[in-house]
Amino acid sequence: MSKPPQKRLYIKTYGCQMNVYDSERMADVLRPLGYALTDQPDDADLVVLNTCHIREKAADKVYSELGRIRRIKEIRAEAGRSTRIAVAGCVAQAEGEEIMRRAPVVDLVIGPQSYHRLPELIARTSRQLGERLAADFQPEDKFDRLPEERTVHGYSAFLTVQEGCDKFCTFCVVPYTRGAEFSRGPEAIEAEARRLADQGVREVTLLGQNVNAYMKEQDGGGLAALVRRLAKVPDLDRIRYTTSHPRDMDEALISAHAEVEALMPYLHLPVQAGSDRVLKAMNRGHTALHYLRLVEKIRAARPDIALSGDFIVGFPGESEADFEETLEVVREARYASAFSFKYSRRPGTPAAAMPGQVAEEVKAERLQRLQGLLEEQRQAFNRAMAGRTVPVLFERPGRYQGQIVGRSPYLQAVHAEAPERLLGQIVPVRISGAGSNSLAGSVELEAA
Ligand code: SAH
Ligand code: SF4
Ligand code: F3S
Repeated sequence: MSKPPQKRLYIKTYGCQMNVYDSERMADVLRPLGYALTDQPDDADLVVLNTCHIREKAADKVYSELGRIRRIKEIRAEAGRSTRIAVAGCVAQAEGEEIMRRAPVVDLVIGPQSYHRLPELIARTSRQLGERLAADFQPEDKFDRLPEERTVHGYSAFLTVQEGCDKFCTFCVVPYTRGAEFSRGPEAIEAEARRLADQGVREVTLLGQNVNAYMKEQDGGGLAALVRRLAKVPDLDRIRYTTSHPRDMDEALISAHAEVEALMPYLHLPVQAGSDRVLKAMNRGHTALHYLRLVEKIRAARPDIALSGDFIVGFPGESEADFEETLEVVREARYASAFSFKYSRRPGTPAAAMPGQVAEEVKAERLQRLQGLLEEQRQAFNRAMAGRTVPVLFERPGRYQGQIVGRSPYLQAVHAEAPERLLGQIVPVRISGAGSNSLAGSVELEAA
């Protein structure tokens, strides 16, 4: 059989880790068609923008990027080279029709549940045939039909186990862009994890918009059982998962944190806000106290856990007193890292139509105060590492000669002067100090 001619694929990824996973899988789907990845859009025969709709700014980026890509397409056309442009991801799902209208340069629009159909859709566009918009909502098809083969680089990989969301927080577009909660079967996940381990991957991060809702409705023990199952895969030494919802943080998962060595002591557990009134208006389904008790329970099981979270300031109706309750929750919960955002009004979500929208300056001022506090906590967490010895999975060469970089169990970046042969290995490192974004340490000699 003759090999198909080499074509170049450029994928730009926005948004969350699930999009990162999806982008890798799109590359896997297109590889048999002769597409090889490039990081230069002007080299690309096919450009895919894998988009995010979560906040207004994220969605706007797509249109400005399309303007840039259009100019590249024109320049390439002058040289007699064609360029196909696809918009994928959550903006595609939410605004597919509008993209087609606003950006005629786009050849095809494809939602997150339809990536297995990319080859077929590309074939159609090349023959100028009808369907250019695929926005199915059947994740079962997606996972069953994506190729088994994955090409991964490096020692840490994402693995999507759950998609979609049934929680309908009133600010959020995800239930509309990703559809209802769906869990992949544990056999398929384990098979994928084994193939990753065979390619040298030592750490997997299990992904889902509500990853701890995994298999909630079915028998099988939920995420805790999946973690225990994957902990047995040879050479897969570290397991992480993200993102969790406080409502789905069950006893079994908390016990897994106490008992499963491979499960890393890091937990991304967004609270969003600290005022019960605001939490109710957000439809979060938990109070501040419920959240704090949960954190206490998790710390009782795994005292050193690094807690991470997401916050929204300036949700409609949020008063100064409400906001101060958010600061109070942060002080009590103590975060090792966090993401915080100004509330962004998303068309079609209930909160967009709520009274009491908060002025931009007020949001900006609250965000600054919140981020100040979160940053203090992050630095305190990092400083407390000095003098400790922790296992580090070394992943890549550092910026300076002779330096390599990896991750601590708590997901901190750690630099050390050490030989590159330690890449892909988990090695004890004595932490000497904390910089602004990473730790420095030295490899314990007897281990190297
Ligand atoms: N499923 C996850 C998070 C998904 S979105 C969860 O429930 O925690 C990631 C984060 O974006 C959210 O946690 C929230 O903090 C933020 N976010 C979502 N919608 C937003 C909006 N309309 N404005 C500002 N931030 C938003
Ligand atoms: Fe969005 Fe809430 Fe679902 Fe998270 S739980 S994805 S914030 S609706
Ligand atoms: Fe964005 Fe979609 Fe992820 S809206 S955050 S890319 S699920």
